This record gives sequence, C-alpha cells and structure tokens, in this order.
Amino acid sequence: MNPTFKYLNNMMAIVTICCLSSFSVSAETGEENEKKASAISSTINSASETTVVEIDEDSFSCIRDMTPVRHFYVDNLLGDIDSTLAAANNPEGAVYPTGSVVQLVPTEVMVKRESGTFPATGDWEFFELIVNESGSKINKRGFVDVMNRFDGNCFTCHVPAKEKWDFICESGHGCESIPIDHAMTGALQRSDPRCGEAVPEDGDWMALFKLKTMVSIGLTKKWFEDLF
Ligand code: HEC
Repeated sequence: MNPTFKYLNNMMAIVTICCLSSFSVSAETGEENEKKASAISSTINSASETTVVEIDEDSFSCIRDMTPVRHFYVDNLLGDIDSTLAAANNPEGAVYPTGSVVQLVPTEVMVKRESGTFPATGDWEFFELIVNESGSKINKRGFVDVMNRFDGNCFTCHVPAKEKWDFICESGHGCESIPIDHAMTGALQRSDPRCGEAVPEDGDWMALFKLKTMVSIGLTKKWFEDLF
C-alpha cells in the first residue's frame, strides 16, 4: 500500500471526529436504557406488529457504499432508501422513516428505530463504532446517554435540531457547531478503512493532520480539567 494511503488508513484508527471513543459512558446506564427501550419497543411491536429494525455490526460497512446527500451519507436498513432520501432532501425538513441510517463520519451513526421506541430522541438510536479493515464493531449504542471522547453527548448536541429537522444538525439547524469542517469529514469518508484503499483528494492529508492535532489538544485540555 502506498505509504500516504497507509498513513490515512492508520489515522482512521486513531482519529475520528467529535464522536470517538469516550471515557465516561456508563455502560450500565446504557444497558438499562436499552432494556427499557426494547421493553417499550416490544410492547408497541406486539400491539401494532411494526417491522423491527435488527441492528448488529454487520448492519454497518463502507460509508461510501451508502447514498451521498450533500456532505453526509444515508441508507435504510429496511430497504426504503427512497423515503429516507425524500426526508433528507426535503427543504422544509421532515421526519426520517424507520430504518434510516445517517452518517457523517465512519465511526458515528444515527439509526431511526421503530416508531415509539424512544420518543425523547425521536426514535433515533446513536452509535459509536470502531472501524478497521475487517469491519465495524459497536463500541457504544443508546438513546440519551451516548457520549463522545470530549464528553459530548450525542443527544444533547443534536436535540436543538429536533423541530423541523428531526435531530439532523447539518449547518444552521440550531445545533452547537463542531470544530470539524467538511474538508475533515470528507477526508475521513475517503479513508474509511472498511472501503479498502483510500481515495484521497488534494488537501486530505492536511485536513487529517489538523484533525489529529485538534484531537490531541482536546485530550490535553480534558486532562487539565480533570487535574484542577
Ligand atoms: C458537540 C456537539 C455534537 C456531539 C457531541 C455530537 N454531534 Fe453529531 N453532529 C453535530 C453537528 C453540529 C453536526 C453537523 C456537522 C456539519 O455537517 O457541519 C453533526 C453531524 C452528525 C451526523 C450527520 C447528520 C447531521 O446531523 O448533520 C451524524 C449521523 C451524527 N452527527 C451523529 C452523532 C453521534 C452518533 C454522536 C455521538 C457519538 C454525535 N453525533 C455527537 C454535533 C454533535
């Protein structure tokens, strides 16, 4: 493998965006919430026989095999990609259909669960993945308590976009902005190790380098905050 591409791939393992592995998620709380959610879900499912969205690590693969929308990617685990695209492309905003998958970077996913699964998050389940050449591993999943490595809570950050945009932040939907631009997210998409060889564009090297530096600064800052 070309050393630059290898570097990009290696970088993927180390660097992800705002939502990498976290330090402080309580797995127990996550499990409890998941249990509650599935209990609610099964009650609803038995009542209305809603199709269940089955999710395991095989549900996720190369981000570039999904359908691009502006700067992010979408899919639908129930096969209804047309409805997902219709929601994503609605200029007025829309509620995404069950089974929708949305990703900006390889390691972070939002999946629209069965209607009524978890009303507070609009039925979105948040995932953080560990990705490498052999596939995806689910590091964290949940509804209101999944955190990223900067102690940022997925739900808390995305909730301002609840009205109108169904929790999808993009730009200008009311979410607190993240210090990661689309040059960086594009570079991460083009170097998703699950896709095989990276397909870098001009500037990707620099974008990933800047991102790595920011991650280091973020970690250093956290370390200081913990000390004092
Ligand atoms: C600090 C706030 C913040 C946190 C924490 C955060 N996000 Fe986001 N997220 C954003 C913003 C802002 C965008 C839009 C970025 C852009 O396109 O410029 C975004 C984009 C996304 C997108 C693409 C669709 C969209 O909303 O634009 C997905 C999917 C996503 N985030 C999932 C997650 C997951 C999963 C987590 C937790 C592991 C998470 N996010 C944590 C702020 C956050």
